Amino acid sequence: MKINIHLVAGARPNFIKIAPLYHALKREDWADTRIVHTGQHYDYNMSKAFFDDLNLPEPDFHLNAGSGTHAEQTGQVMIAYETVLLKEQPNLVVVVGDVNSTMATTIAAAKISCPPNQEPQSTSHPYGRRPFIAHLEAGLRSFDRSMPEEINRIVTDALADILWTPSSDADENLINEGISSKKIFRVGNIMIDSLEMIRDRIEEHEAFKDYGLIAGEYGVITLHRPSNVDSPNTLNKICEALINLSEKLSLIFPVHPRTMKFLKSNGLYDRIGEVPNLIVTEPLHYIPFMNLVFNARMIVTDSGGLQEESTYLGIPCLTLRPNTERPVTINEGTNRLCNEDGLESAAHEILEGKTGVGQIPEFWDGRTAGRVVQTLVRCFDNPGLDNG
Ligand code: UD1
Repeated sequence: MKINIHLVAGARPNFIKIAPLYHALKREDWADTRIVHTGQHYDYNMSKAFFDDLNLPEPDFHLNAGSGTHAEQTGQVMIAYETVLLKEQPNLVVVVGDVNSTMATTIAAAKISCPPNQEPQSTSHPYGRRPFIAHLEAGLRSFDRSMPEEINRIVTDALADILWTPSSDADENLINEGISSKKIFRVGNIMIDSLEMIRDRIEEHEAFKDYGLIAGEYGVITLHRPSNVDSPNTLNKICEALINLSEKLSLIFPVHPRTMKFLKSNGLYDRIGEVPNLIVTEPLHYIPFMNLVFNARMIVTDSGGLQEESTYLGIPCLTLRPNTERPVTINEGTNRLCNEDGLESAAHEILEGKTGVGQIPEFWDGRTAGRVVQTLVRCFDNPGLDNG
């Protein structure tokens, strides 16, 4: 029999993470893979553009959850996904990353039960008639529970049956939380698979030239965390530091919708818009954005994914956060934490060449999706050989 798999994605980084896994599972004749789009991100350039760039088909299920408070968004996803779960009865729900959609679909799947008149399938979960839940990018911890993502990570990992981790620190975090080592599989970093999957198209794109930038002579900025953009004082200090830095280095800043809202409401959008060496754009599609990253001198960000991508590419990265759930990017890679007050001096140190050379962490090699598929073959005891 086939294993009926739901691949859940809700927000921009999720679309990047499911793509290599979707393509790997599509090659397996035992896997019947469907994409569930929760609708957390819905603008064209935050969602559909990523499906197009990563060769993903139209999702099989749209939950249309949209924006809201944390409880509203989580609740909307849970309610909508419960209906899909009851109808479709997947054997396996795969969730990725740490966004609200990740936690919401995990909770819905963990508490679902088939209607009594339906026979459980041979691949049903031993705890009851519910699907297995697998979390890709499990075990990451910032140890900062003021971050909504940290809550999402803890809840998701506590409920998942299969935990696919990117690095050894993630394995240790899970063990320390009492999770059985039998459930933990170190598979590496799926974001690197996404990048390698379409490296040729990224390199050919040359988006940096479209913006009049010179390879190796500009910085890429991304910001969206509430801790950086929701506070007018912090956002103002970051903008001032970027304006000063732009006198030494051209900068390009694709602005996330949340950040755009706060830049405009604080009068900062017009202020940075008139700085000659600071290019402000809409959020970019995956391929042009990665082309900008490939050719950048440095990255300034609060994104999780960019900390990893810059480490893989050996590009210095300044992360505007007090902590990171991705310590391997600091211990082994090119990442460094800083705050709004230290941003300018840290950036100048990079320009002066005062940065170490990083190394690529183990299993960040573009083969993570293949390792994920292998663990599934083992967990489901050679699916495809099972006749039901
Ligand atoms: C979410 C994730 C964050 C992830 C980020 C990637 C949570 C708690 N946060 O943050 O971990 O790093 O995605 O981008 O899950 N909006 C639009 N159009 C869209 C989507 C959002 O305009 O397509 C606006 C809405 O006004 C919304 C706001 O952006 O209220 C924030 O969106 P939301 O999904 O709640 O959180 P992000 O800040 O994007």
